[in-house]
Amino acid sequence: MPPHPTLSDGSCLSPAQVQALEHIENDFRAAPELLQNIVRGMHKAMDLGLSKPDQTLAMLPSYIVGSATGNEKGRCLALDLGGTNFRVCEVLLLGQPGQYTMQQKKFKIPHTLKIAPATQLFSFIADGIHSFLEEFATPEERQGASCSAISLGFTFSFPVVQRALNYGELLQWNKGFTNPGAVGKDVVGLLQDALHTRGIEVTVTALLNDTVGALMACSYHYPNTVMGAILGTGSNTAYMERMSRITKFDPLAVTPGASAPKRQVCGEDEMVINMEWGAFDNEGDVIPYNRYDRMLDVNSTNPGCQMFEKRISGLYLGEIFRLAILDMVRLKLVFNGKISCALETPYVLDTSVISTIVDDASPDFCEGTPVVEEKLGLQFTCAADRYIVRRVATLVAYRSARFAGAALGAVVLRRDDRLARSTSEEPLTLGIDGSLYEHFTTFRENMVQSFRETVGEDNMTKLRIVLTKDGSGVGAAVAAIMNREGKCL
Ligand code: BGC
Repeated sequence: MPPHPTLSDGSCLSPAQVQALEHIENDFRAAPELLQNIVRGMHKAMDLGLSKPDQTLAMLPSYIVGSATGNEKGRCLALDLGGTNFRVCEVLLLGQPGQYTMQQKKFKIPHTLKIAPATQLFSFIADGIHSFLEEFATPEERQGASCSAISLGFTFSFPVVQRALNYGELLQWNKGFTNPGAVGKDVVGLLQDALHTRGIEVTVTALLNDTVGALMACSYHYPNTVMGAILGTGSNTAYMERMSRITKFDPLAVTPGASAPKRQVCGEDEMVINMEWGAFDNEGDVIPYNRYDRMLDVNSTNPGCQMFEKRISGLYLGEIFRLAILDMVRLKLVFNGKISCALETPYVLDTSVISTIVDDASPDFCEGTPVVEEKLGLQFTCAADRYIVRRVATLVAYRSARFAGAALGAVVLRRDDRLARSTSEEPLTLGIDGSLYEHFTTFRENMVQSFRETVGEDNMTKLRIVLTKDGSGVGAAVAAIMNREGKCL
């Protein structure tokens, strides 16, 4: 970070302000040694998670073997559940790389349903599927007269231990969902029951995480895809791993209630693994927690869990920033020491506020000023206020981007065999989706820079990062159709 300049009104920061900012800079340090620690720590945790169940990095087998070819063809439904809305889509894959058509309908999930018994949540979703079919199904399907049920790929963006492509037990809720009656249960069964109760002729044939969806959607376009990542409200990555390294996985095991494996696999095959990297370093051995990380965690719905996600994902950046600014206000170093009700309200700032502040490069902070004043219910009193607010937001976002870039780099380096076989003409591809990556320019630039430092300049020419929109819709359809074609386990 550059030294503090003379401010736009000709003043300078006071020594106390400089000292407090230095302290915060130290809190949000993301130096190269730390990035190297992330790579080493991530590789160790990946090995552990692939060898034994119940490890910090869950490393969850997806039952999807190999990537898409781009020739997948067919029509199916996709359901996307993982945040404020759920979405039902009808996807038609045209059998040409990246070519598809899609119709969709979005439904907002009221807060009350995120905490209601799981059966109520799944009933609400089944109603949404019903209303979608009323609008988009063919006349035969609407009357239940078609010869087979419509197949559905279900993107469920929470940690799930899968025991078949269409069977997965929820490990824990996160992102504000706490619905009792789902943890430990098969979420496909919960959805399927709600559909049956309503007489809806839809069969859930594939269950997948949104990162797996991003990978599948990207590989439908670029078959050389090795990773899918989500950098948004939540954060996570899926990647292709060699079967021989997934030592905890028994491809022949059959779980009661789940379908039996449909094909054989060998050690050279590759399976998509959902890392659930949000839990990386829950123990705090690799990256030091700062005072704001601790405050946020203690007051969260899942203390001690998702500690990496709490430092890098969109759900938390605004809150970390609020805690740091509140600290400075209490020390009377900013906003004349005035505390507003909003400033004391947890999670009052979403990530779009942080990106507006950080991406605003104007010297007098034109775009950021009204947004911050409105959201915090406070007026900037001088140039120093504006400078401090921008600096703190920049530091919080910088650490997040650097850590995310290093973690992505760690996963790519894990597949150094694939990297070695790639060329600049046939680059290894990473599909990334999520609001931080798509809409937060400074975040994206810092993330790519840290990724570059991690994988090395030479490797960069053999890698391609692609913004992969709609993995949860298209990716789910690709998985359901690969399953129909007998390509999944
Ligand atoms: C969930 C992951 C998901 C990620 C991105 C995390 O909170 O645990 O399953 O992939 O968010 O949506």
